[in-house]
Amino acid sequence: MPIKVMAIFGTRPEAIKMAPVIKALERDGRFQSQVVVSGQHRDMLDQVLAYFEIVPDFDLNIMKKSQSLSDITVRIISRLTPVLEDQRPDIVLVHGDTATTLGASLAAYYQKIPIGHVEAGLRTWDKYSPFPEEANRQLVDALSDLCFAPTPESANNLMKENHLPSQIFVVGNTAIDAMKYTIQQEYTHPCLADNGKKKILVTMHRRENLGKPMTEVFQALALLAQENNSLEIIFPMHKNPAVRLLAQKELGQLSNVQLIEPLDIFDFHNFAQRCNLILTDSGGVQEEAPSLGVPVLVLRETTERPEGVKAGTLKLVGTKKEVVYRETLKLLENEELYRKMAQAKNPYGDGQSSQRILEVLFQHFQSKQATLENPQLVELME
Ligand code: UD1
Ligand code: UDP
Repeated sequence: MPIKVMAIFGTRPEAIKMAPVIKALERDGRFQSQVVVSGQHRDMLDQVLAYFEIVPDFDLNIMKKSQSLSDITVRIISRLTPVLEDQRPDIVLVHGDTATTLGASLAAYYQKIPIGHVEAGLRTWDKYSPFPEEANRQLVDALSDLCFAPTPESANNLMKENHLPSQIFVVGNTAIDAMKYTIQQEYTHPCLADNGKKKILVTMHRRENLGKPMTEVFQALALLAQENNSLEIIFPMHKNPAVRLLAQKELGQLSNVQLIEPLDIFDFHNFAQRCNLILTDSGGVQEEAPSLGVPVLVLRETTERPEGVKAGTLKLVGTKKEVVYRETLKLLENEELYRKMAQAKNPYGDGQSSQRILEVLFQHFQSKQATLENPQLVELME
């Protein structure tokens, strides 16, 4: 009997990083793959599903305009529970730190269904930064039976919290696997004009940055654009209306700022690779940048991805207007500094993380099966 693995996710970043795992499960006869989406990000999720040609078995369709954290969590638990009761997968796989991840993990735990956590162990140790993702990730790790840590650092964080070493597996980050489906040599896009201007790609969406921090960053960008006609700023806006309204207000009138719709993942990876600099508060973009060879200024005070900072590709600059303005100019003007950041080595693995996850899953269920069939033999082997 194949092992029944149910992947549950709902936002853009989860979908991008789960997609290579699902594609690997679909190709492997040892497993039966099931996909449940919460629909927390209706539009941006569907964009990813379409690109990877993933058709969910169940769609909980929970998204509401301006949804609160409680809205999302309550709706996921109540809509997922009957699916879990009915399907009884051998294990559920969740990813990262979103409300979907936490809600799905709780629902699975209440059904006593084992949980595998992809991208486990990232920490800032500050429960309000990123909010609520830091707490989500800690809680999901606490509920998980298998923790797939992307790096030795994240595995070490789990050890510090006394997770059992036998439940922790360093597998790399599946974001790198996803790039094997997207990056191509030849690429053009109408918003990437070959006009000699330096291109800054911006993404910003975090809940803790809404309001004043985001306003300050957008004002810094406006100043940069006004003072430097040789710059072009391209901002694929997150679908959150709070982000879009503010971006339109602060940046909408500037001729060298392009406010565009979210790019699909094929476009985003190829587009980002051809920009000079990225400014972002995104977690996933921080992981991809070292492989793209593009320096990133991180619009946050803390990061749960210190590997990219150590590797030299990322620099934390926070959200203060003067600092964002100064650091951006410095990087664009100082060639030596720029080269150093652009040439850093990717610390997130070799693009084989999905396969490693599958092997861990298979071994886990093999040894469980062996224990059931012959407990004494397993004891001897250990
Ligand atoms: C969520 C995650 C965050 C992740 C981010 C990735 C939580 C608590 N937060 O935050 O960890 O970094 O996704 O982007 O899970 N909307 C649409 N269409 C979409 C997506 C969003 O209209 O496709 C709008 C809706 O009005 C929604 C709002 O954006 O209410 C906010 O979306 P939500 O998922 O609640 O929060 P994010 O800030 O996107
Ligand atoms: N991304 C995308 N289109 C965009 C912006 C980002 O496909 O217009 C991808 C990006 O490559 C990364 C992921 O979305 O893989 C990050 O998602 P997001 O920033 O929404 O969430 P986070 O990673 O911060 O949780």
